[in-house]
Amino acid sequence: MECRVCGEPLAPFMSFGPMPIANGFLAPQDIPLDTYRFELATASCKRCRTFQLIDQPPPDKMFHANYAFFSQTSRVMQDHFENFALDIAQRLLARRDDPFVVELGSNDGIMLRHIAKRGVRHLGVEPSANVAAAARNNGVNTTSVFFDAESAANIREQYGPADVIAAANVMCHIGSIRDVAAGIALLLRDDGVLIFEDPYLGEVIAKTSYDQIYDEHVFLFSLESVRAIFGPHGLSVIDVAPQTTHGGSMRYTLGKTEHHEVSSTVTELEVAESRQGLGDDQTYDRFRQSCEASKAALNRLLGELRGAGKRIAGYGATSKSTTVLNYCGIGPELIEFISDTTPIKQGKVTPGTHISVKPPSCFSEPYPDFAVLFAWNHAAEIIAKEKAFLESGGRFITFVPEVGMIQA
Ligand code: TYD
Ligand code: ZN
Repeated sequence: MECRVCGEPLAPFMSFGPMPIANGFLAPQDIPLDTYRFELATASCKRCRTFQLIDQPPPDKMFHANYAFFSQTSRVMQDHFENFALDIAQRLLARRDDPFVVELGSNDGIMLRHIAKRGVRHLGVEPSANVAAAARNNGVNTTSVFFDAESAANIREQYGPADVIAAANVMCHIGSIRDVAAGIALLLRDDGVLIFEDPYLGEVIAKTSYDQIYDEHVFLFSLESVRAIFGPHGLSVIDVAPQTTHGGSMRYTLGKTEHHEVSSTVTELEVAESRQGLGDDQTYDRFRQSCEASKAALNRLLGELRGAGKRIAGYGATSKSTTVLNYCGIGPELIEFISDTTPIKQGKVTPGTHISVKPPSCFSEPYPDFAVLFAWNHAAEIIAKEKAFLESGGRFITFVPEVGMIQA
């Protein structure tokens, strides 16, 4: 396997073992005798330091008719994307005449509708046809194609060059990132900007949040790797801004340096990454040890609680939980069920480990003694919502940044 960014041969520093598809929730009667698995192994490229999976399952295994990911309907995420649009409008569109904004992986228009509302020319690029249709219903001009150099050229021909190209939680999914970078360079106006955000490698390493590693997340970016991807296309990172979403993300703004000033936040992050050792092999050896320690601690805790006859549920059937459950070998013998608000996940079982997913109404009938907080990235919202559970003596079990408990 070669680095998807620079072509250097890749060597894994660890494997999380044979993994099913993270979002492969199935009804019990639909579970095949032989569940598809791939080796979830990770590498940090020794040349460009891009953190990536060694193997990624073929796209048709991950995305199919049953997979319709609609952006979070949670209030926090709605607000986050409204603020993202505001950041674009105020910081990047000011003083531009009739600007044109393109969003890659625009989903149901959760961000772009706030741009559309301002009467700004825009285009969402969303390959999933049913999700694109939902965006159009939200008043967002959307095309349902895969973004690459060819579609970028078509968009430029039809609409002209883009002043802003935006993406959120999209770039880290795209193995063919070089084609996407070429397309962006082609579509962007000479003084245009690219702005995107994804879960941040530095946060994953700092918090041992290894559950961010699953089939769809082929990359976890850092400043260094973003530079390696877009530098060859003449795009420099001109601003960075940490985000609290998805357990710790980074928003990168890129443009040509002859048109933009480089913010001091960029140098600060460069220093922080060097201090954290994101470019050192030892950091990844330590990360592997931290993952192993986390796995042992979680198994020990759940085993002890079950041994004492306690009832344990899960909270949030996240994609991330597939890595935790399969890597740690946790199944229905430890976790009775997982509560989740997503209708299409309810009545199904978790990929590879076959824990039942149930609607939130089951969570309180009666409350379990403990609930593993798989949706830890929404902790604040969930803790506020589940006051009654905590006040009745229930506790959340967390595993990020360490295995521990949250109680009233
Ligand atoms: P998400 O944050 O998108 O995580 P991932 O990218 O790992 O899938 O998913 C959150 C999941 O948690 C989603 O399935 C909905 C569920 N959830 C609840 O069940 N209750 C809640 O209060 C919240 C906020 C989320
Ligand atoms: Zn590389």
